[in-house]
Amino acid sequence: MTEFILNGSPVSASGDHGHLLAALRDELGVFSPKDGCSPTGQCGCCTVLVDGKARVACQTSMEKSEGTEVVTLEGVDEAERQQMAAAFAAHGALQCGFCTPGIVMRTKAMLDKKRNDDGTSDVTRDGAARLLGAHLCRCTG
Ligand code: FES
Ligand code: FES
Repeated sequence: MTEFILNGSPVSASGDHGHLLAALRDELGVFSPKDGCSPTGQCGCCTVLVDGKARVACQTSMEKSEGTEVVTLEGVDEAERQQMAAAFAAHGALQCGFCTPGIVMRTKAMLDKKRNDDGTSDVTRDGAARLLGAHLCRCTG
């Protein structure tokens, strides 16, 4: 049994899961983190926040998940989701959408880390490009 906070609510996963991604999708009914390559941790599609940091869930063991706070796209504030969706759409940053939840969660971690008191974020294009290099998009390469 592994207990942690998922999108603000306490949960426990009792299945014999090889990693956090399996617990989220197979037991806890959270489907925004996608399985593109588990358990190899290469594509970034399963990225979630674990204690505020972007982590690939297929490389996060159940032991390491114990007692943490996990946030998936389902747990992101609606206004922030809409803002992110509008920005991605405006820049054509999606096609089929399979990889998008993971990229959005990586983007959120990046923005949160660089957030100023007035709500703006000091993110540079180069910095963003470097972080997003952890993601593979099958539609665009
Ligand atoms: S499914 Fe986890 S990195 Fe690809
Ligand atoms: S938009 Fe299709 S995999 Fe990235």
